[in-house]
Amino acid sequence: MQLKLNGQRSCHLLLIVVLLFLLCIALRQSVQDRLASKQMIDHRLLIIVPFRDRFSELSAFLPYMSKFLNDRHRPHHVIVVDQCDSFRFNRGALLNVGFLEHGCSDCDYMALHDVDLLPNHSSIDYPFPPDKGGYDVLHVTPPYLHPQYHYKEYMGGILLLTREAFAKSGGFSNLFWGWGREDDEFRLRLMEAGLSIGRLRNLSSGTASFVHLHDPRRHARDSRIVGNQRELTFRRDRTSGMDSLRYRVTRRYSLAIDGAQPASVVCVHLHCDTGVTPYCAV
Ligand SMILES: *[C@@H]1O[C@H](CO)[C@@H](O)[C@H](O)[C@H]1NC(C)=O
Ligand SMILES: *[C@@H]1O[C@H](CO)[C@@H](O)[C@H](O)[C@H]1NC(C)=O
Repeated sequence: MQLKLNGQRSCHLLLIVVLLFLLCIALRQSVQDRLASKQMIDHRLLIIVPFRDRFSELSAFLPYMSKFLNDRHRPHHVIVVDQCDSFRFNRGALLNVGFLEHGCSDCDYMALHDVDLLPNHSSIDYPFPPDKGGYDVLHVTPPYLHPQYHYKEYMGGILLLTREAFAKSGGFSNLFWGWGREDDEFRLRLMEAGLSIGRLRNLSSGTASFVHLHDPRRHARDSRIVGNQRELTFRRDRTSGMDSLRYRVTRRYSLAIDGAQPASVVCVHLHCDTGVTPYCAV
């Protein structure tokens, strides 16, 4: 009889210990969850994607990036700036439009992001730059990681920067119609604004760390240099920026692909002053 009671008591004791243990685990998990969600509330990323005509790339990009950023607990909003006019492509002006039309008041940092580049390495993350070495700007695709561009000063592809840093830089020059060089000029703006620039460290996968969707047979680059274009685009432009940009948004809609978080699309008609840049149309 005595033995049986003892047995029951130790059984109860064991049950209580197990319950306490489970309670501890639950409490710890909830603290961790709360910490994680606090991190998520602290910073929100705005991804600006300059765009035209490449729906096959966009339809791969949106679901891929949504998963990539959700896996890393990075709350984000994507704005696709679609150049709907018939001028030559103007990546810098489209990035300026993305900043001005972002529609994400709690986004405190931005990724200027090519639509044809997908990060594909487990250690690549898109942190708030000041949290990563105290930088204002973080180049995610430096020349030793970008699949295609390897010159020392290269700063295109994917660039993270705080909203303040972009504002301080004055934005991109609007004079670059056609392919290339606007990112080199933007780098000079960042440096002259005294912003600190960091780069992602090299990875063992090197230039295979990103998937380059670009298919030059389908989307030929517009590398023509016409009229006074060389003169205006091979030097620092001190006349134009996001404050002097003229454009019209002709349509806005949201685009959800494959269950990914919907992106905002703005269809934009840029203004070209043919007196200054006659090469905006060829
Ligand atoms: C990313 O890399 C892995 C191999 O490391 C590969 O299997 C996968 O297809 C790549 N993703 C894309 C989108 O190409
Ligand atoms: C980066 O790492 C890859 C792989 O280890 C290597 O092949 C490449 O030379 C490195 N690049 C630089 C700039 O260190």
